[in-house]
Amino acid sequence: MDDEDPTTTDTESHVSADDDSPTVLVTAGTGTVGRHVVAALADEPVDLRVASRDPDRARETLAGDEHVEIDESALDGTAPDAVEFVAFDLGRPETYYPTLSGVDRLLLVRPPAVSRVERDLFPFVDAAARMGVAHVVFLSVLGAEKNPLLPHRRVESHLTDLPVDTTFLRAPSSVRTC
Ligand SMILES: NC(=O)c1ccc[n+]([C@@H]2O[C@H](COP(=O)([O-])OP(=O)(O)OC[C@H]3O[C@@H](n4cnc5c(N)ncnc54)[C@H](OP(=O)(O)O)[C@@H]3O)[C@@H](O)[C@H]2O)c1
Repeated sequence: MDDEDPTTTDTESHVSADDDSPTVLVTAGTGTVGRHVVAALADEPVDLRVASRDPDRARETLAGDEHVEIDESALDGTAPDAVEFVAFDLGRPETYYPTLSGVDRLLLVRPPAVSRVERDLFPFVDAAARMGVAHVVFLSVLGAEKNPLLPHRRVESHLTDLPVDTTFLRAPSSVRTC
């Protein structure tokens, strides 16, 4: 065990601190798909957290997107159940713990630039399992189950081996979202 990795020691953080609402983390919440997930979940009784390399830019991106409707007060932090934006970068493991702390459910997206999933995505997925995330929904791609060379397939296989519930969204690679 790596003593310097706080994600290896936290086993109780999946219980939401303030209420019984589940905490849902959306990775790539500024992306083509993720931004619509954020808009849909913003109206649901969940504590919604959006992960982005640049939280301020993410907030502006979502507020300025004419194709998604999210209440302004949910984005600017004035609503009691406002969306929480956290700084997260797969290339910066030190961001994993604050991103995952208290999370019950996770929408996992593989950024297109991340092809070496074993090196660049699995550590985050493993940290999520260690920190008690109960359910991972992975944005996969149509046909992933038939093509072992696809990074999506390798992510699916890895998730299957972890102690988490999983849902694989095998979407066509050019989903129209607006
Ligand atoms: N779009 C589709 O129609 C579609 C359909 C089926 C499957 N997929 C799959 O979904 C994935 C891409 O989703 P997308 O098209 O919605 O994304 P996208 O529009 O290409 O956006 C990329 C997202 O990845 C985030 N990101 C980039 N580098 C990151 C890093 N180092 N750490 C953390 N986050 C990072 C960006 O967030 P920030 O810039 O805010 O950090 C951004 O939200 C791919 O695996 C693709 O195969 C997409």
